[in-house]
Amino acid sequence: MSFRQDFVWGAAAASYQIEGAAQADGKGASIWDMLTRQSGKIWEGHTGDTACDHYHRYRDDVALMRKIGLKAYRLSVSWPRVLPQGTGAINPLGLGFYDRLVDELLAAGIAPWVTLFHWDYPYDLFLRGGWLNPDSPKWFADYAATVVDRLSDRVSHWMTLNEPQCFIGPGHIAGEHAPGLKLGMTEALLASHHVLLAHGLSVQTIRARAKTTPVIGWAPVGVAYTPATDTADDRRAAEQGMAAVYPGGIWNNTWWGDPAVLGEYPEEGLRVYGKAVPRYTAEDMKTICQPLDFYGANIYSGPPVKAGPAGREVAASTAPGHPHTHILWKVTPSALYWGPKFLHERYKLPIVITENGLTLPDWVSLDGGVHDAARIDFLQRYLRELRRSAADGVDVRGYFHWSIMDNFEWAEGYKHRFGLIHVDYETQKRTLKDSAFWYRDVIHANGANLG
Ligand code: FCB
Repeated sequence: MSFRQDFVWGAAAASYQIEGAAQADGKGASIWDMLTRQSGKIWEGHTGDTACDHYHRYRDDVALMRKIGLKAYRLSVSWPRVLPQGTGAINPLGLGFYDRLVDELLAAGIAPWVTLFHWDYPYDLFLRGGWLNPDSPKWFADYAATVVDRLSDRVSHWMTLNEPQCFIGPGHIAGEHAPGLKLGMTEALLASHHVLLAHGLSVQTIRARAKTTPVIGWAPVGVAYTPATDTADDRRAAEQGMAAVYPGGIWNNTWWGDPAVLGEYPEEGLRVYGKAVPRYTAEDMKTICQPLDFYGANIYSGPPVKAGPAGREVAASTAPGHPHTHILWKVTPSALYWGPKFLHERYKLPIVITENGLTLPDWVSLDGGVHDAARIDFLQRYLRELRRSAADGVDVRGYFHWSIMDNFEWAEGYKHRFGLIHVDYETQKRTLKDSAFWYRDVIHANGANLG
């Protein structure tokens, strides 16, 4: 049982969460710049204005990545840094930052994996209706062209969107994330349709314009459920949960994955959403469904489910005292077995875990180290399950730890520390946590030391 020889060991972060420099060098505002100014939206009123100041410290940060031995680093490009109004004039200084970052990574032997959109949507486009505007897919494709034209001579790995489930769900339905809207399902599904079209158009754009052969995927939430017991009924229940579309929300795999990979909305979704489903054409579905080279999945937890009375899955409780992380997500290592297995069987694409990790209340000890033994244990458990999925035939190509460093955790502000590297936000001092050294050894051994 081992990972493939060319397994990609990486770590991830996202522009708004680490860059800071929110107004530097001609950057335009994003909807997160807007939301973080609204009172009561973010824990303790935190903002990403400075964050980890990665915009100015990227050289040091890449040096730390090199120390850890990362093979790849998943970064996102800030759309309004590159196009301050979202469309039209390019900001050369903003685009130049990604140019330099890519060069620095390549010089360190680290492959840049670029996500085009990780939630920092241009404020000016929000004023024009954002994802509700029927032109929004085209805006996104034009932005993609700008980035691809500049970086694709050196970047070959691309992800279109990060977690549409999350920027539409908490962002456009629950009002907790930017842009803070509370839309009904009719409007939310219309925005979602535009998001899917944006995905498809941008895949076409990357393929048409890339200067080196592109490897293209995306990074949706991998909604994972784990069987409560090892019985065929509970296994089926977990599968049902991962295929299901529940009314009233868009937290699911198939409303997103089916159109993108299979070219149609799932039948169950069409049924449960009913009249809220937007009108769409066969042409739309062709645009959305583009060949992908991998299916990314962000998987943190997989709540246990069991077979219910009506032949449907129901939530199973965990025993009192079941481990959870600082953000109260349950520790369920087999999410990295069942999640990839389901997605691979349904979509028949290579799988990349584009995010996985945990938050702990880490601090720097008197001896100067950060002793995050629980992170090491968590990762060891999860990675063993990922390896088990590979041994069972799932084509797993890579794993990106979330995150390379502690950062701005959206509505939770700086409450949570997900990093392999500890960040002191007052001094910007970085400290490698014990887990960073452990991960270095895992990478070096290609997982052979996971036990
Ligand atoms: C995911 C996001 C990522 C980070 C982790 C903890 O939903 O993609 O930016 O916030 O959760």
